[in-house]
Amino acid sequence: MGEKIIEVCNLSKSYGDTQVLKALNMQIEKGEVVAIIGSSGSGKSTLVRCIAGLENIDGGKIMLRGQRISGTKSTNGKVGMVFQNFNLFPHYKVGENVSMPLKTVLKYSDEEAEEKSRTMLDRVHMLDKLNQYPNNLSGGQQQRVAIARALALGPEVMIFDEPTSSLDPELSHEVFETISDLAKEGQTMLIVTHQINAVRRFATRMVFLSKGNIEVEGTPDYIFNQSKNYDLKHFLKQVSFEDI
Ligand SMILES: Nc1ncnc2c1ncn2[C@@H]1O[C@H](COP(=O)(O)OP(=O)(O)OP(=O)(O)O)[C@@H](O)[C@H]1O
Ligand SMILES: [Mg+2]
Repeated sequence: MGEKIIEVCNLSKSYGDTQVLKALNMQIEKGEVVAIIGSSGSGKSTLVRCIAGLENIDGGKIMLRGQRISGTKSTNGKVGMVFQNFNLFPHYKVGENVSMPLKTVLKYSDEEAEEKSRTMLDRVHMLDKLNQYPNNLSGGQQQRVAIARALALGPEVMIFDEPTSSLDPELSHEVFETISDLAKEGQTMLIVTHQINAVRRFATRMVFLSKGNIEVEGTPDYIFNQSKNYDLKHFLKQVSFEDI
C-alpha cells in the first residue's frame, strides 16, 4: 500500500434539488495518475472542484495527507488545479504569471520566485516565452504555462479539468505530452477528460462516474477490455467516436 495523498469519504454535494455526488468514496495514493471519466453532467467537475476546495460540500469530508481540507478553502497550492480555459492573468507576462503565486502564497522573495519561475517554465519547454503576454501564445502554450504555474507551488496532487477541450488536436497532443512527462516523474494527478484514448496511455487507474458515484474503476485495461458494466460500455462506445 502506497502513501495516501487524498481521501474522499462519503462526499455528498447538491445544487438545489439536484444531488450530484452521493456519499462518494475515493482514495488517491502517491504517484497515482487517476483519470475520471463519465458522461456530461455526471459530476466530474463537481468532484474535482470539491477536492480543490472550490466548492462547499454538503456531507462527508476530504482529507489531504490525513488533514481535513474540505471547508478550509485554501490549500496553499498543495492541490494544484489546471482548468479548461487556462485562467492566466492576461496583463502579466508569462514569467510573472508563474512567479506571482510563489510570492503571494509561498512568500518567496522576488529573486527566488523569478528563479523558480524560470525553472518551471523550462520544465514545460516555455522558457523562451518568459517575457511574452499570454495572449501572444497558442492555447497549448498557455496551458503549459498554467501547468508550470500550478506545479511551481509543489502540489501534492495536480488536478486537470478538461485541460485540452478548447484546443486543436495538435495542441492537445502537446499538452498531453507534458502531462505524460509529469506522470513519468511520479507526480500524483487527477485528470478529468473526454479524451480517453490520450489518457489511457499513462493513467494508472480510471474511474467511471455515473449517477453521483463511482460505478466502475480499475486499470485502463480493465476499463476498456474487461469490465462488463453496461453503462461503461455504452459510454465508451459513444466517446470513442468523438475521440479520434
Ligand atoms: N454551479 C452550479 N449550479 C447548479 N448546478 C450545477 C452547478 N455546477 C454543476 N451543476 C450541475 O451538476 C451536475 C454535474 O455537473 P458537472 O459540471 O460536475 O458535470 P461534468 O461531469 O463535469 O460534465 P461535463 O462533462 O459536461 O463537464 C449537472 O447536472 C450540472 O448541471
Ligand atoms: Mg466538467
